[in-house]
Amino acid sequence: MNTCAIVIFGATGDLAKRKLIPALYRLMVAQKLTNFVVLGAAIGDTTAHDIMESAHDFITDKDGQIWQQLKERFYYQQLNFNVFDDYSALNVRLQELEKQYCLSGNRILYLASAASFFCAITEYSARAGLAHRIGSNAKPWQRIVYEKPFGHDLPSAHHINESIARVFDEHQVYRIDHYLTKELVSNITLMRFANCFFEPLWNNTYIDQVQIVLSEQIGIEGRGAYYDAYGALRDVVQNHILELLALIGMEQPYKLAGDFIRANRAQVIEKVRIIDGFLGQYEGYAHHEGVNVNSTTETFAMLCLGVDTPRWQGVPFYIKTGKRLDKKETVIHIKFKQINCLLLRGCPLESNWLTMKIVPDATFSLSLNIKKPGRTDELLPAAMEFCHSCIFGERAPEEAYEILLEEVMRAEQATAVRFDEIEYAWRVIDELYARKLPMYIYKQGCQGPQEIKNFEKQHGMEWRS
Ligand code: BG6
Repeated sequence: MNTCAIVIFGATGDLAKRKLIPALYRLMVAQKLTNFVVLGAAIGDTTAHDIMESAHDFITDKDGQIWQQLKERFYYQQLNFNVFDDYSALNVRLQELEKQYCLSGNRILYLASAASFFCAITEYSARAGLAHRIGSNAKPWQRIVYEKPFGHDLPSAHHINESIARVFDEHQVYRIDHYLTKELVSNITLMRFANCFFEPLWNNTYIDQVQIVLSEQIGIEGRGAYYDAYGALRDVVQNHILELLALIGMEQPYKLAGDFIRANRAQVIEKVRIIDGFLGQYEGYAHHEGVNVNSTTETFAMLCLGVDTPRWQGVPFYIKTGKRLDKKETVIHIKFKQINCLLLRGCPLESNWLTMKIVPDATFSLSLNIKKPGRTDELLPAAMEFCHSCIFGERAPEEAYEILLEEVMRAEQATAVRFDEIEYAWRVIDELYARKLPMYIYKQGCQGPQEIKNFEKQHGMEWRS
């Protein structure tokens, strides 16, 4: 499994330096990647050395020897995504490298480029022999990884998918969403279905509302042109947030594995209905390089969605996401309904909340009402908590790209996204854009636009802090 050649299309981009190269390094540390070569390709006139230098700061706990080995196995070749001859040259170089390092021919093509190049890369890679359609048990294997967002809207996603289907088999294709490989995210399904007391309560009789927050302190980090063409709805709602919603909303699968989970996630996304929402843009966004000075692209979104299934009828799913906010946090809060007030004095009580914090400080916590000490029947909220690092140690279980690459090498498709999930998610996003939601400007470093207060009032809700 740990012997392969990896071609990274878009190797000069932000993803390669921030996530992919650090993930390769950690796989080496864990000895999960032993004999390999990485061949980066992109339009830029640069060198392997410069790319590795740009990734340097994103690696913590650096082991000098392993870093050196990774540098020695990292190559770069300039390539124009739209020029077929460049792919033939890339294949020649790859064959030479495979020979030099005695590799068996296992290949991963990783498309970390903008989705607008996916069709060209897919078609030309196949024509040039970088990969081709093979059976699921074929040796050596060849697998192709597509970064999110998969397309720009529903028609473009279809277009890409059709071009893939023309040259590769579905078992070779990994449409990925790194959120699904985050440790705490993969824990959601297991926790829901491996503890018998959740399932009877997991419905509209007991759950009042669900809040999903993906908030970031960082801005667009040199990705102006990409971000301005996509915006928050396409960048994170279409994928990460709707997948989190699907994991909360899905029915119990026949088995907690592979396609059973993917099918149930898809069923939820298919039933998502838009209720309300607004967008935001942080002050100064339009001054970034690559961003249109009159840009109306959203860097913030707040939404109220419904899920039209018997389980969730009437339960609002609130979504909040934005860049340059006050904190980095990805969290899901599930609010349970009030207990019957006839029971107690001092009603209404605090509701019970189940909080799943993915970053920072991976924790699940359940707030309970407990008795204040002494001869009183006064109640207080207190949290029962599962803290990941307290049990499993400090190493953050967050290195999603490391797990993701490992799963591709192991041919494990459970955390890859099936095309129907993508299709339903684009339907939601396309409809959101068609609704022309109002847009408000917000100051950097705050919680988002002032409009949040009106939204809360109108919906009779409050964001849990
Ligand atoms: C990426 C988005 O998919 O997810 C980025 O393109 C965003 O804009 C990032 O910053 C957030 O991921 P994480 O793992 O840092 O929460």
